[in-house]
Amino acid sequence: MRAVVARGYGGPKVLRLEEVARPRPGRGEVLVEVRAAGVNPVDWRLRRGEMRLLTGLKRTRILGRDVAGVVAATGEGVEGFRVGDKVYAMLGGVFGGGYAEYVAVEAGAVAPMPEKLSFEEAAGVPLVALTALRAVREALREVKENAPHACDAGALERRRVLINGASGGVGTFAVQLAKIFGAEVTAVCGARNAGFVREIGAARVIDYDEEDFASGGETYDVIFDVVANRSYRICKRVLRPGGVYVTTEPGPRQFASQVLTMPNDRKARVVLAKPSGDDLSMLGTLLDAGRLRVVLDRVYPLEEAAEAHAHGEAGHGNGKTVLSV
Ligand SMILES: NC(=O)c1ccc[n+]([C@@H]2O[C@H](COP(=O)([O-])OP(=O)(O)OC[C@H]3O[C@@H](n4cnc5c(N)ncnc54)[C@H](OP(=O)(O)O)[C@@H]3O)[C@@H](O)[C@H]2O)c1
Repeated sequence: MRAVVARGYGGPKVLRLEEVARPRPGRGEVLVEVRAAGVNPVDWRLRRGEMRLLTGLKRTRILGRDVAGVVAATGEGVEGFRVGDKVYAMLGGVFGGGYAEYVAVEAGAVAPMPEKLSFEEAAGVPLVALTALRAVREALREVKENAPHACDAGALERRRVLINGASGGVGTFAVQLAKIFGAEVTAVCGARNAGFVREIGAARVIDYDEEDFASGGETYDVIFDVVANRSYRICKRVLRPGGVYVTTEPGPRQFASQVLTMPNDRKARVVLAKPSGDDLSMLGTLLDAGRLRVVLDRVYPLEEAAEAHAHGEAGHGNGKTVLSV
């Protein structure tokens, strides 16, 4: 089969289209014939060698955490999926393996593809939407549990959620999901994307070139720092009592804040994306009902994975970059 393999660490040019062996589904796995694969920041971080401790010994480095495609075969013990079903999934493992014509995926990570979405749109959903869902759902739950400590009873009615990095892959889902959960959303992004984040549900938009949300007069129940360029320490001044700061950056400083704030009224949290077929099914229902929308930035053919990385790495897209396989 054709696959894009990262040969060594470095710039986008280390990505090469090659012929490699087609995987076989093991016990409990589904073999997906990939029609589209999502491109995520973790892919270029792996490609650059930023996670060498995890990746050093692996020889076949096929990147790609998100796929949408068709079931080509099922392994022993798999129930609920048949050959020909349209599915989508977030892949586990270090590299994922989605930039390829076929990939074997653990059945628990697979969900029926939303009927109203194209393969390209569906491939733009899994990792970013699962991250946004975990972050926003768990932070709002925690704020609710902390509610008895909140000083302003009116604040209990309508949670105020700020998304820093609202126009990217994770951010666009975080804005929409926070709105679905009943929160009032403030989005932080570049001026160019202000209209677009309002369209998907932000009540207020802050242009990060004009205003620093962490030193303004407004306060929030949840601050979701998707870009991870603000810390809990900087944000706690604008976090309401009982509030939660959540970041996507799994660094030592962020984990230390999580532990150190355990006894505090205001908490810091790190969110880690996790494959989940159940959550993807739930997201699929919202997508099919038109309550949630996937925003595609650009679609590249598989053989232009290097160009797709260069575009994504520039860091100012609006929505998802996807490879068509
Ligand atoms: N922990 C996990 O499991 C996990 C899971 C998913 C993602 N992540 C991490 O989360 C981060 C975002 O991922 P993504 O897929 O959403 O990336 P993305 O699609 O590349 O989006 C990044 C966004 O950041 C915005 N941005 C750039 N500079 C900014 C600033 N100074 N202030 C506010 N926003 C700014 C850009 O918006 P403008 O164009 O408006 O500037 C862009 O839309 C990455 O670092 C990724 O590695 C972690």
